[in-house]
Amino acid sequence: MLLEVKDLNTFYGTSHVLQGISLNVSQGELVALLGRNGMGKSTTLKSIMGVIKARSGSIVFKGKNICGYPSYKTARIGIGYVPEDRRIFPTLSVVDNLMLGVKGGKIKKPNDPKTWTVEKIFQHFPMLEKRAKSKGMHLSGGEQQMLTIGRSLMGNPDLLLVDEPTEGLAPLMVKEVRDVLAEINKAGVSILLVEHNLKVAMSLAHRLYLMGKAHVGFSGTIDELKANPEARAKYLEV
Ligand SMILES: Nc1ncnc2c1ncn2[C@@H]1O[C@H](COP(=O)(O)OP(=O)(O)OP(=O)(O)O)[C@@H](O)[C@H]1O
Ligand SMILES: [Mg+2]
Repeated sequence: MLLEVKDLNTFYGTSHVLQGISLNVSQGELVALLGRNGMGKSTTLKSIMGVIKARSGSIVFKGKNICGYPSYKTARIGIGYVPEDRRIFPTLSVVDNLMLGVKGGKIKKPNDPKTWTVEKIFQHFPMLEKRAKSKGMHLSGGEQQMLTIGRSLMGNPDLLLVDEPTEGLAPLMVKEVRDVLAEINKAGVSILLVEHNLKVAMSLAHRLYLMGKAHVGFSGTIDELKANPEARAKYLEV
């Protein structure tokens, strides 16, 4: 198992927003985490990343319990995070934004085929190559999303946590982002994806978790979800 989260509890002040979350991601898997607004999906990703400190539980990544790690340390051990707000640097070019994702500022083993370089990112994201010299602030929402994903790949993560990547994008761009996630996953990066677009999630994921308020209510494959209208009604449909 690449990532094994067990009984995670997270609070905002006195508000107990994650009440015993357990989930896992195997090497090479793309796993979706779905659920209605405010259930705790983003908080789950933030807790894994160490952006928010979980109060209890364990987060075992590549055999090591990383619960309590600050986010820079989580990144160093191989987890990339693509937050909801894209946080690209508006006055820096696309290439400079990408280089900010390199740990320690210098690409190690640039000739290793597994290493992500600017050239390799451009092969996967031709749209970004066309905008290589443009400043972050001049990119469209979809291009910014691509850039954020590309930047986190520059840290060579084994696992990418991606929060609502298609939110607010035009339909054509939704497809582009979907395809890029599929390709990255094929290239060997495991992905834990939070997504409100059910069609996108179902077309990408090997397995899914559905969250109810502060807990995981369903876990299974796409086929198992399709065969379970009660779970869909309870956790997905409004
Ligand atoms: N910084 C914060 N301080 C206090 N409460 C928060 C904070 N961030 C989120 N919450 C609350 O924690 C709960 C879980 O929020 P979270 O953002 O994880 O949900 P979500 O499933 O990602 O929702 P959405 O689909 O709207 O993105 C919600 O009730 C939310 O109001
Ligand atoms: Mg969220």
